[in-house]
Amino acid sequence: MTLSTNEVTTAKHLLDQGKLVAIPTETVYGLAANALDPEAVARIFVAKKRPHFDPLIVHLSGLDQLSDYCTDIPEKAWILARHFWPGPLTLVLPKKECIPDLVTSGLATVGVRVPNHPLTLSLLRQLSYPLAAPSANPFGYISPTCAEHVAAQLGDEIAYILDGGPCEVGLESTIVGFPEGEPVVFRKGGISIESVEALLGPVAVQTTSSSNPSAPGMLLSHYAPRTPLFLYPDGPCVPSPFPDCGYLRFSTWLDEIPRERQRVLSEKGDLQEAAQNLFAYLRQLDQLGLPCIGAELVPNQGLGMAINDRIHRAVTKRN
Ligand code: TXA
Ligand code: MG
Repeated sequence: MTLSTNEVTTAKHLLDQGKLVAIPTETVYGLAANALDPEAVARIFVAKKRPHFDPLIVHLSGLDQLSDYCTDIPEKAWILARHFWPGPLTLVLPKKECIPDLVTSGLATVGVRVPNHPLTLSLLRQLSYPLAAPSANPFGYISPTCAEHVAAQLGDEIAYILDGGPCEVGLESTIVGFPEGEPVVFRKGGISIESVEALLGPVAVQTTSSSNPSAPGMLLSHYAPRTPLFLYPDGPCVPSPFPDCGYLRFSTWLDEIPRERQRVLSEKGDLQEAAQNLFAYLRQLDQLGLPCIGAELVPNQGLGMAINDRIHRAVTKRN
């Protein structure tokens, strides 16, 4: 991709004025503001209709900035950062005072990562502050994986969209914290648990919490389309193909359903391609205005674990 200096400069000027700019990352688009300016950060919560108890991820330009914003960094965090940054990994670490409480929802820890996208890295290197950025979608809805998704939902709320093309990974970052000094995966994402374990040995995984509002990415219902979504064929809710339903499939088409109402994540059965397509296909199915969507799980390994995590959270909950 050619680096567009003009666009990065425009984004910088607006961010310097405390405005909101959507930024491309390798995972999903973020809705960014100056992380050190509480007034600018407050605008993110308003634009997203995001509850204030949901902490934001702070985006850094490089590994060298980690100790400017975090303290008491365990060696295992350094190992992960050195290996995976820039890349789809967020580390939750004790924050330094300069990070406003609004960013962390009052928590003593902050989520930080170095995103792997040339435009956003170039922008971050030109700024004198890091960028707080949640995914650029209304709270609870499907994350955006291209500039058009952002424009469709938040276009009126933000000053500028830095268009960096479709996101390469398509799933949010993997979040790892160190609550007792040892690594715990809080959110499955663009880096597989297997590759974290290859570096650190076995890690604990604690990705669901219906009671802990400090990390809504862990809430059971999130990333959801407006159309009711059920697991098919494995779910208890849909006994047989609903003729009028839409279908999200892994690698094969259903013969009995018209293809316009189906999306196949990867005909090759490739999990990376499936991850890239997941959110865009969920949006497309949601826009068809169908009575429901049946979603098939993918093989539960590597990136497939994060894909299945998002599908499970998108399932319509019944009380
Ligand atoms: O890939 C990504 O991580 C994208 C791109 C834009 O970087 N960002 C993203 O942000 O997914 P968001 O706001 O949609 O999800 C952030 C989640 C929170 O909901 C929470 O679960 C977790 O990160 N989080 C952030 N700070 C935390 C903290 N101090 N302790 C525990 N969890 C935290
Ligand atoms: Mg999000």
